[in-house]
Amino acid sequence: MSFNLQNLLDENAGRNYALHSEHINPQFAKVLRLIGFDKCYDRAQGTHLWDLEGNKYLDMLAGYGVWNHGRSHPVIRKALIDFLCSDQPGLIQMEAPLLAGLLAEELKRRSGYDLGRVYFTSTGAEGNETAIKFARRATGKSQIVYAENAFHGLTNGALALNGSSIFRDGFGALVPDTLSVRFNDPDDLEKALAQGDVAAFIIEPVQGKSLQIATKEYLEESVRLCRKYGALFVADEVQSGIGRTGRFLSLQHAPKAEPDMVILSKSLSGGYVPVGAVLMRDWIHEKVFSSLDRAVVHSSTFGQGGLAMVAGLASLQTLDDDALLANAESMGDLLGSRLSAIKSRYEFIKDIRWQGLMIGIEFGEPESFKLAAAWKTINALSADLFCQGVTIPLFEDHRILTQVSGNSSKIIKLIPPLCLSESDVDWFCDGFEQVMEGLHTFPGPVWEGLARIGRNALPRRGSKATANSL
Ligand SMILES: Cc1ncc(COP(=O)(O)O)c(C=O)c1O
Repeated sequence: MSFNLQNLLDENAGRNYALHSEHINPQFAKVLRLIGFDKCYDRAQGTHLWDLEGNKYLDMLAGYGVWNHGRSHPVIRKALIDFLCSDQPGLIQMEAPLLAGLLAEELKRRSGYDLGRVYFTSTGAEGNETAIKFARRATGKSQIVYAENAFHGLTNGALALNGSSIFRDGFGALVPDTLSVRFNDPDDLEKALAQGDVAAFIIEPVQGKSLQIATKEYLEESVRLCRKYGALFVADEVQSGIGRTGRFLSLQHAPKAEPDMVILSKSLSGGYVPVGAVLMRDWIHEKVFSSLDRAVVHSSTFGQGGLAMVAGLASLQTLDDDALLANAESMGDLLGSRLSAIKSRYEFIKDIRWQGLMIGIEFGEPESFKLAAAWKTINALSADLFCQGVTIPLFEDHRILTQVSGNSSKIIKLIPPLCLSESDVDWFCDGFEQVMEGLHTFPGPVWEGLARIGRNALPRRGSKATANSL
């Protein structure tokens, strides 16, 4: 019998966790079971997911920011089907693919900067690897400066720019000559740049782990300092780009911060096909591809794949057709201001910050004696535990999918699809407020549940493995 996808799915429905435990990542499958996130999803549309039992969920994670346009977008899906049915040849390699040229043209137009060349990748990490190599070759310098708490991916070079030791530990020597600076601190950046030999400063304008938002002044001053010291200013917009913050690029909130390179990925795919791009100034590209015999000195097999290029073109057009930038800004402001109002009533919430639909909810030690004692006890069990006291009831009781922003983090990150509606905002805020009520009731069932998880399974303070999110 020939391959039949639907039959395969039907015959194996519900085997997800057994298969993963046996063949893929038993630790992750165990974590998902432990925190009750071990659902089998069957259908997705826009901001919503359905499990095999037909329960509907609100997706505030969007696959860590790949579904900006909403899941199962009909236009992007149709574009991909059209491409597949067209028998267009792809990956000929010894040709110049039309669709790649068109996508490059469109990305340049939307960025609006003087970035004349585009290099296509398949992932965000590959974009960062490209930026590291190109910056070193173009400037003839070696050091790459990055910000504390940064996340640029998990391949060797990108990992060398990672602000968290848990990702780096135990993997041996990484790419050398990298240097961390404090975020939003131009003096610290200048100190690093003044040491000389800095090829580039790579920064996320909104950090995916800390949810810190670079100020306009900081970004503009960083660009000025990079120029002064002959380093490139590189914006990693893998997560903050493609409309996420209400602009095509988050950097566009700081109009005078003109980058030398911009790295994109995630939602350029429309969620469907891996695709990334590095936009750069012409002269950088010319230094790398400097002669005929260096014409393919940097490349990867799937870099300009037809499906990826179609996904990119259709997803960019959809940003306009669905007015997603404006919706990201207005829904971000609505959700952010409603969460700020909730914050004033609950002392565990320390900060709500957002740019468009990239939102951080930060928790911290409360003032009142009983709650402070609960905070200390739970954190003594595991630094990862407190936020699960928010994400677990949000999921179990309100069917809202969220996660912490990183290991040992006290921040929950909301990065929903940009088509989030007012009723989704109501769904989230009503559920969140009830969860806050439960968390501020000590002793109470939320705390008992957390202590049980902490005692039985989650790693103790000082140990490493956790249910982190990217
Ligand atoms: C800012 C940023 N850069 C790079 C990456 C790595 O992207 P990928 O997972 O596609 O390699 C991520 C992933 O979350 C990211 O958020």
